[in-house]
Amino acid sequence: MAKIELVEISKSYNTGGGALDVVQQVSMTVGDKQFVSLVGPSGSGKSTILNIIAGLVKQDSGRILLDGREIADPSEVISYMPQKDLLLPWRRVIDNVILPLKLSGVRREKAVQEAVNLMEIFGLKGFEQRYPSELSGGMRQRAALMRTILAKKDVLLLDEPFGALDAITRFKMQSWLLKVWDRFQRTILFITHDVEEAVYLSDKIYVLSQRPGRIKLEINVPLPRPRKPDIITSSLFVKTKEKVLKAIEQ
Ligand SMILES: Nc1ncnc2c1ncn2[C@@H]1O[C@H](COP(=O)(O)OP(=O)(O)OP(=O)(O)O)[C@@H](O)[C@H]1O
Ligand SMILES: [Mg+2]
Repeated sequence: MAKIELVEISKSYNTGGGALDVVQQVSMTVGDKQFVSLVGPSGSGKSTILNIIAGLVKQDSGRILLDGREIADPSEVISYMPQKDLLLPWRRVIDNVILPLKLSGVRREKAVQEAVNLMEIFGLKGFEQRYPSELSGGMRQRAALMRTILAKKDVLLLDEPFGALDAITRFKMQSWLLKVWDRFQRTILFITHDVEEAVYLSDKIYVLSQRPGRIKLEINVPLPRPRKPDIITSSLFVKTKEKVLKAIEQ
């Protein structure tokens, strides 16, 4: 059974100039513990789709099934890292990352202990008491990801988590994310408009058209795991990337 299933989701927004069709008849499935990416041009409705899955925006038509059921409160299953995930600037790193644990009723000392144990893998050891403004861009994204993972939900929705990073930091973060995903065994739906990033990370990729977003291509990524950085020069990688790029250009 799919972990997430979208069945013919459509959404339009009422704007001053009339209805704006944003998402049209989008169907997708994400299997349990899969890593699936959604790529598409700016404004094609990617964030809108995540907002709909997270229950923050209501679709006009279509159904969303989580573990095969329509559920009233998706936050039981889903942890969402929105496109502009801002850490709270007035809280130290440690207090930012334990926020979801505290909200679910875990005692502060217990939450702190759990988070401290993870600081190393998130590359934040020694920075627990710093404020977000004292971190690099990559560190801030790792802290935000740590907070998302500490929420302990089966499904992570990640909206362009590396969009603002330079190419070198970004590539390091991608390899790191694969390690984290392997260790924590979650289902990930990942948004990017970087095709290479999508191929490197994913089991499956969906390509969205220009607005209104429709699925133009669904493609399984036939690359073995674990993925080493040098896989990006293999012919299978390049071929997969070409297929995705062609679908985007069409
Ligand atoms: N609350 C809203 N009210 C009206 N229009 C909206 C609203 N949210 C998004 N839109 C419009 O819907 C379209 C899709 O927006 P969305 O943020 O889903 O795109 P996106 O694919 O995530 O783009 P990007 O890659 O730039 O993040 C855009 O034209 C946007 O202006
Ligand atoms: Mg977006």
